[in-house]
Amino acid sequence: MVTKWEYKKPKRVINWGDFTGIRKFESVYELPQEAVEVLLKLLSVQGDTEFASIEQHLYWLFHAPSLTERVTIARIMADEMRHGWQIIQVLKEFGEPGKRIAEELLATRMGKHRLDAFNMPFNLWEDTIAFTFLIDRVGLYQLMAFEDSSFGPLSRIIPTMLMEEEFHINFGYTGIKRLVESGKRDIAQKLINKWYPRGLDMFGHSRSRTIELAYKYGLKKWSNEEMRKMYMKDVEELVSPLGLELPDPYKNRRVL
Ligand SMILES: [Fe+2]
Ligand SMILES: [Fe+2]
Repeated sequence: MVTKWEYKKPKRVINWGDFTGIRKFESVYELPQEAVEVLLKLLSVQGDTEFASIEQHLYWLFHAPSLTERVTIARIMADEMRHGWQIIQVLKEFGEPGKRIAEELLATRMGKHRLDAFNMPFNLWEDTIAFTFLIDRVGLYQLMAFEDSSFGPLSRIIPTMLMEEEFHINFGYTGIKRLVESGKRDIAQKLINKWYPRGLDMFGHSRSRTIELAYKYGLKKWSNEEMRKMYMKDVEELVSPLGLELPDPYKNRRVL
């Protein structure tokens, strides 16, 4: 069964890691220094993806095949913009170092983003579909891993972001399904071959010290490898009934 997200009210106590059972960290001053560094790293990557995708979508805001699709792109762009803004509100809690990262995020353009999936322009309209199907789905996992995070201000912004990501990935899935149903299976397959390896890379290195620490401090609940496995299983379950195949997960990969 494909992993489904369901709304859960954030709890007041930490739910995993070395600090399980104690009250969540509500301000930066309560966070251990090591946790501050980890969180700044994680927030800068998450924020970068939010702003990057807006630039990728921009062309199709004017050129999508129908008015309905243009409206959908406008909505997705507005959602991503607000996600980026919400991440910046959390970063501001960290004072100067947080503000510096926020400024960097706002100034970064295509070609300079941290993750390769965000340095690839959408040459075809169908890239928009494959991107929301495969890349926004990675975003969904990254955000689910932050759900109920030990840093209170972060845990409170996650539920609305997840609700909107669900809309993005459903738009992508419906689009892929329609491509197949209208006899364009070859295009759908080509797009999957193009975006899937970049999606797998986005989960990061299998052995990541940052992610180990993120778990220890209750910030993020899954390791990169755990998330990558869940994602692979979900995508497989969605594409195989459509007669599509996933490429070898080790082929054309850059981050292992
Ligand atoms: Fe987002
Ligand atoms: Fe999204």
